[in-house]
Amino acid sequence: MTALPGNYQNEIYFAGLAGIVPDLPITFTDLERRAEQAMPASLWSYVAGGAGDERTQRANVAAFDGWGLIPRMLRGATERDLSVEMFGQTWPAPVFLAPVGVIGLCSQDGHGDIATAQAAARVGVPMVASTLSVDPLEHVAAHLGDTPALFQLYTPTDRSLAESLVHRAEAAGFTGIVVTLDTWITGWRPRDLLSSNFPQLRGHALANYISDPVFRAIAGVDLDGDPRAAVLPWVGVFGNSLTWDDLVWLRSITTLPLILKGISHPDDARRALDYGIDGIYCSNHGGRQANGGLPALDMLPEIVGAVDDRAPVLFDSGVRSGADVVKALALGADAVGIGRPYVYGMALGGVDGVVHVVRSILAEADLIMAVNGYPTPASLDRDALRAVHTAR
Ligand code: FNR
Repeated sequence: MTALPGNYQNEIYFAGLAGIVPDLPITFTDLERRAEQAMPASLWSYVAGGAGDERTQRANVAAFDGWGLIPRMLRGATERDLSVEMFGQTWPAPVFLAPVGVIGLCSQDGHGDIATAQAAARVGVPMVASTLSVDPLEHVAAHLGDTPALFQLYTPTDRSLAESLVHRAEAAGFTGIVVTLDTWITGWRPRDLLSSNFPQLRGHALANYISDPVFRAIAGVDLDGDPRAAVLPWVGVFGNSLTWDDLVWLRSITTLPLILKGISHPDDARRALDYGIDGIYCSNHGGRQANGGLPALDMLPEIVGAVDDRAPVLFDSGVRSGADVVKALALGADAVGIGRPYVYGMALGGVDGVVHVVRSILAEADLIMAVNGYPTPASLDRDALRAVHTAR
């Protein structure tokens, strides 16, 4: 991506001169509404739903309204550079695609993990590939082109299986391991409970297990036919409620950067760094796991303070627009994850849909930075924000 992301608006306006208007939504509200119409009801519930009465999920989004960006003038931000150094590589923008376990099911062809990799390759924005995928991680990696990608690990209870997954991710070319800590057990999700639907328990998105020699040995059943044969063995190994001691082992099995996802307390962030962790990923899983929590954005400044520039801080949960990306950066995130918006793009337009959603978010972020006089992510700091006082 050499051109500035904001140029996407010119592409759209120039296409308009030829009578072409975008067939994909521009605002998140339209995106969400149209995705709901396009997706099967149970898949929609799984993606859009969250824990409990979804208060935390809504608060994640609303928290961004509590901050306003301050424009600075006479800075001539015509030359902008959104690129950032992350784990020894250059990312074209401080944005990535958060891991989404059923993204595979969200594309019309049922191969949404591969479609996400293809979209990442087209826009140069890294994806974090979930453990829970419809296609094995090697197949996903084959579509990434030159775009870096991280592998998200749900650490199995069996250490040799965990090591196998990590080593496969290394061999496939992933450049970091994101260890998700907050989902060793599933949170209470009323929408899914009401439809009695949990995709993995129906044999979906288990390809990384079915293709794994260690899992196959553990399962001890024929896994080449109906994927539902993998369900019970999968239930037996999935949820590992890690403790700090496990970090010593995790650190010992890979030289790739290790990033911990789900960190919400500054003490946990500090302690993780003591264990040689390379990145802190502040997130509450989009409010899907534990209701009754703070918005993730409210936790970010304390995490950033605790990390104190010793490692990159990644952030997600509630990001819906380019403005949200800029606010999270100003609150100290080094990179910002897009979650549900790209899932909805996938449901509406496959690879093109994800590319459109990502380019739209990047374009808006870039144009806000241009208008407001912040030419680089590094130029955005707490002084770029004020708390909103106006009653809404
Ligand atoms: C997720 N998320 C997630 N996280 C993870 O570490 N591994 C996974 O497999 C999944 N799967 C998953 C499925 C679906 C349908 C969703 C919506 C989310 C959480 C994801 O990475 C991210 O933290 C949230 O999506 C952020 O919240 P918003 O911005 O999407 O609301």
